[in-house]
Amino acid sequence: MDSDTLRKKFLEFFANREHQHTIVPSSSLIPDDPSVLLTTAGMQQFKPYFMGKADPMRDFGSKNTVSVQKSFRTSDIDEVGDESHLTFFEMLGNFSFGYKPGEPVSSTGGYFKKEAIGYGYDFIVKELGLRIDYVSVFEGDKEVPADTESEKIWKSLGIADVRRMGREDNFWGPTGIEGPCGPTTEIYVKSSEGKSIEIWNIVFNEFYCNSDKTSRKLEIPGVDTGMGLERLAMVVENVPTIFDTDLFSPLMAMMPYDMDIRRKRVFADHARGIVFLVSDGVRPSNKEAGYVLRRLLRRIIVYGEEGIDIKKAFKKILSLYCGFYPELNANAVDEVLNGEYQTFSRTLKRGMKELGEGSALDAKSAFRLYESYGLPYEIIKEAGGRRADNLRREDFDKEFERHRAVSRKGKEKKFGGHGLILHTGELKAANEEEVKKVTRLHTATHVLQASLRKVLGGEVRQAGSDITAQRTRFDFTFPRKITKEELRKVEDMANSVVERGFDVIMKEMAYEDAIRNGALAFFKEKYPDRVSVYSVVDENGEVFSQELCGGPHVKNTEEIGHITIVKEESSAAGIRRIRATVTP
Ligand code: ALA
Repeated sequence: MDSDTLRKKFLEFFANREHQHTIVPSSSLIPDDPSVLLTTAGMQQFKPYFMGKADPMRDFGSKNTVSVQKSFRTSDIDEVGDESHLTFFEMLGNFSFGYKPGEPVSSTGGYFKKEAIGYGYDFIVKELGLRIDYVSVFEGDKEVPADTESEKIWKSLGIADVRRMGREDNFWGPTGIEGPCGPTTEIYVKSSEGKSIEIWNIVFNEFYCNSDKTSRKLEIPGVDTGMGLERLAMVVENVPTIFDTDLFSPLMAMMPYDMDIRRKRVFADHARGIVFLVSDGVRPSNKEAGYVLRRLLRRIIVYGEEGIDIKKAFKKILSLYCGFYPELNANAVDEVLNGEYQTFSRTLKRGMKELGEGSALDAKSAFRLYESYGLPYEIIKEAGGRRADNLRREDFDKEFERHRAVSRKGKEKKFGGHGLILHTGELKAANEEEVKKVTRLHTATHVLQASLRKVLGGEVRQAGSDITAQRTRFDFTFPRKITKEELRKVEDMANSVVERGFDVIMKEMAYEDAIRNGALAFFKEKYPDRVSVYSVVDENGEVFSQELCGGPHVKNTEEIGHITIVKEESSAAGIRRIRATVTP
C-alpha cells in the first residue's frame, strides 16, 4: 500500500457512514494561533473548538473531524538524519469536540476514550492488518490521576501489554504558551528491524493549561489524535527507515551514491520542508519562521556542493506532493532558492574557509561566523568537527537573541526612541509634525485593539500593523466579516476613551510578568527579557488596554483626537484588516 492510499484510507475510515467525521483540509503552516511560530500539530486549527469558543456544528456540521495536517517541528531538527525524525511531516488526525458523558455517540454527540481507542485499534489492526506491539497510558501524578479507564479499554480489546508512563511521554500540550492539554495513550508497532516505534498519539483533552503553567479542567472534554504519515508508511511498507518509503525514496535516489547517509536524509527532509514552507508564504529572513527557512535553505546549499542538483530535487518533491497539496508553488520555490543562493553564495566560501581554521568554537565565535558569513548554526556545528564539541544550540540562540535586543535598542536610540515607527520604515523621512501624528496613531491603535476585543471578544489578536503619518492599518485574527453595527460600536468605544482622557502609563518589567499580568504581545515580534508595557488607564485606575510595545505614545488619550475607522476588509484567511485615521 503506498502513502497516497494511506492518506485516503485514513480520511475515508473516519468519514464513512459509521464514523461520520467531516474531512477538513490541512491549515497553513503559518498558524492563526498567535502563540506559536509554525503549525506543529493537527489540533492547532481546532483550538477554538476544544475551548468551546467556536461551534463545530455550525462550521463542520459535525462534532467530529479528520484531517491530514502539514506540520513542522523545529524541536526535532537535531535528530533529523536518524531513521524516524523530521522537521516537516504530515500528521493524520481525528478529533472530537464536545463529548457529553451519557449522550449517544454520533456526529452530533462527539466521543471520548472508548470510541477513540476503539477506532485506533480498528484502523491499525483491522484496516491495515498491523500488529500492535504494546500501548502506553498515563501513570498519573500529583495533579492528574492514572488513566485506568484507557488501560481497561485496551485490555478489553485483547492488548495485554499496556505500559504506564509518566508526564514526559504520556501527557500532551499545550501548543504554544497556553491551550488544551491532557493525558495520552500511544500505540507502538514493530518496525521491519524489530524496533518498537510509536506511531499514534491519542490525546484526551481534559484540561486547559494556562500560560503560567497552572491548569483547569475543560468543561467538555475532547479527543485529539496524531499519527505521522511517514512513520505509518514505514511500517506498512515494511522498510527500515522513513527515508525508504515512497514519500522519500525517489528523492533519495537522486543523491550521490557515496554521500554520507545522514547528510542525504537531512537534505531530503530540509528540501521537502522548504517546498512546503515557501508555498505557504514563508520567506527567508533573520526572524522567526523566516529564520527557520533560511537555516534549512543554507544547509542544503552547503550540502548541494557535494553534487546534488537542488533545483531538480525541488522538482521531484513538487511532483511527488502536488497531487495531494495543490497549493505547492513551483515558481515561488524557484525564486526563493535563487534569491537565497545569491545572498549566501557570496560569503559561503570565505566562511567555510574561516570555519576550517582557528581555535575551539564557542557561542560567541560561532555567532560571529553567522553574522559575517551567514553560516547557520547547524553547518558550524557539523563542519566545525572536534572544535565545535562544546558548542551548544542554547548558547548560540542566547547569543543570537542578545544581539537582536542590542541592535533593536541601538536603532531606537538613533531615532529618538521611535522604535516601532522604524519598523514601518516611515521615520527616516518624517519631520516633527509627522512624528507627532504617528505617535497619536500609535496610541489610537492600542485603543482600537482593546475596543475590538471588548466588542468582538478575546479571539481578536494582533496579526500585523503598519502606521504611517496618514493612517494606521491593523490586522487581527477574526473568523468573519465585521458588521457595520459592530464597527460603529468599536469606533464609539474608542472615541469615548479619547473624550474621557485616559492616562497612558509606561512600565518596564520582565517579559514573563507582563504576560502574566495579561498584557497583549504581538506573536510575530521576539521580545527581550525586559520589556516596556503601555497601559491605558481610566479615571478609577481600571486598565482599558495593556500591551507590550516599544512606543512612542501620547501621555493622555485626549491628545489622540477623533478616531475614524475608514475601512474594514479581509486580509487573509481568518484575518481582518482595518484602517483608521485621527483628526484633531
Ligand atoms: N496533538 C497530538 C500530537 O501532536 C496528537 O502528538
